[in-house]
Amino acid sequence: MSAHATATSVEIGIRPLRSAPAAPGLGAEVTGVDLRAIDDATFAAIHRAWIDRQVLLFRGQTLTDPDLAAFSRRFGDLDMAPIQENGRAIGSGMPEIYVVSNVIENGVPIGSLGHGEAVWHTDMSYLSSPPKASMLYALEIPPAGGDTSFADMYAAFDALPDSLRERALGLKVKHDGTYNSGGFVRQGVTPTDDPREAPGMMHPLVCTHPESGRRMLYLGRRKMAWLEGFGLAESDALLDEIWTHATAKQLVWTHEWRVGDLVLWDNRCTMHRRDPFDATARRIMHRTQVKGAAPPAA
Ligand code: SIN
Repeated sequence: MSAHATATSVEIGIRPLRSAPAAPGLGAEVTGVDLRAIDDATFAAIHRAWIDRQVLLFRGQTLTDPDLAAFSRRFGDLDMAPIQENGRAIGSGMPEIYVVSNVIENGVPIGSLGHGEAVWHTDMSYLSSPPKASMLYALEIPPAGGDTSFADMYAAFDALPDSLRERALGLKVKHDGTYNSGGFVRQGVTPTDDPREAPGMMHPLVCTHPESGRRMLYLGRRKMAWLEGFGLAESDALLDEIWTHATAKQLVWTHEWRVGDLVLWDNRCTMHRRDPFDATARRIMHRTQVKGAAPPAA
């Protein structure tokens, strides 16, 4: 069953996805759109659906890197891709494209994040101005595994017990810049065990989404996180409690990839993770990230 979102003169197909029971608003498939050729009215409908549904899936796309970058730029200027684990700044020929891949060519990994689990995170939140959106385009996928899950951070905030919700308001959390989601140390960083000394950025734990006006948890990554002003043990205990609520199965939608899928997500109000897959299988995904600003405290 499809619903439709309208923007002045166009309609795009919006199909709700089999979603997380406690996050029924999370995720939608947009049908009938070729992302290489969209007009302003179609873009406006897509943008509104993205704000409403947080994660959008577009199947059957045929995109070059310039096509992917051009669609991404509809949302705003692009951030350069993070430096790859192998030290290369450019994976695909365009500095805006982050290559997520386990493939090794001539002894050199062509991308980042390997074949293991990529843990729950939101992209590049260790920066002062993290990207508001990311999009990931599937070029090659493994026969099994490598699914990507999304958790709804509006629903996560709502799911907190009243006392925890009150406690979370006004706190700030350190978003660590030492490790990427694949567990690899970022280029140029010397790891420390103390999150207070690690590179990264403090952000409010509960934020208001600047476009939807809704309150959400903004967590970043669990590893090396720290609540400002807390002792390490007290911070870990409170963060563990919050993370248990934030990543509960009922809040999560999981995407099984097909080649030609593009998934667009809102980094401010979702987190994502990736399942591991067979190291001998090939997975090649190209990602862009749209510049944003740190979401304001609620
Ligand atoms: C990412 O975290 O941006 C990549 C997720 C994936 O590989 O599915």
